[in-house]
Amino acid sequence: MKEIKLESTLYVYDSVDELPEDVQALMTRAHEARLKAYAPYSNFLVGAALILDNGEIISGNNQENASYPSGLCAERTAIYYAGSKYPDNKIMKMALTAGSTQSQTLTPIPPCGACRQAIAEYEVKQESPIEIYFMGTTGKVVKSSSLSDLLPLIFDRSFLT
Ligand code: THU
Repeated sequence: MKEIKLESTLYVYDSVDELPEDVQALMTRAHEARLKAYAPYSNFLVGAALILDNGEIISGNNQENASYPSGLCAERTAIYYAGSKYPDNKIMKMALTAGSTQSQTLTPIPPCGACRQAIAEYEVKQESPIEIYFMGTTGKVVKSSSLSDLLPLIFDRSFLT
């Protein structure tokens, strides 16, 4: 038996004001998207914004459904749109903001497992990392330099051969 240790590094900013200007702008787009989320069942609104290597910014939000599993998270709404409209462009950075409609959310909210897997697919496809910045509705922002820091041991295309 041998032990394998997995290590990830995350960076914590005290507020959006500490972020580089381009990421602040991206987070603003994520906040705007969050406010347009369709989340009548959970009242938990999530906004995502991503920037491509051509400078295009794409945003998305969670879309819920009376048949709960038919809904989709904000991250996948945005990334699938990017993948369908700009199949040849790389995704450089993603900004995420999430929180309840009832109160302010101070805790940075990371993407769910299914969204991590979806984002991982695009890192593999484009052969370069995607920076991910996530926050609640206010307060601290966490940066991960690559999706692989949030999801080690991804299931990827290499296992399908
Ligand atoms: N949600 C997201 O949009 N992204 C995540 O990463 C986690 C959860 C949404 C799904 C659902 O509409 C609501 O948040 C509550 O789970």
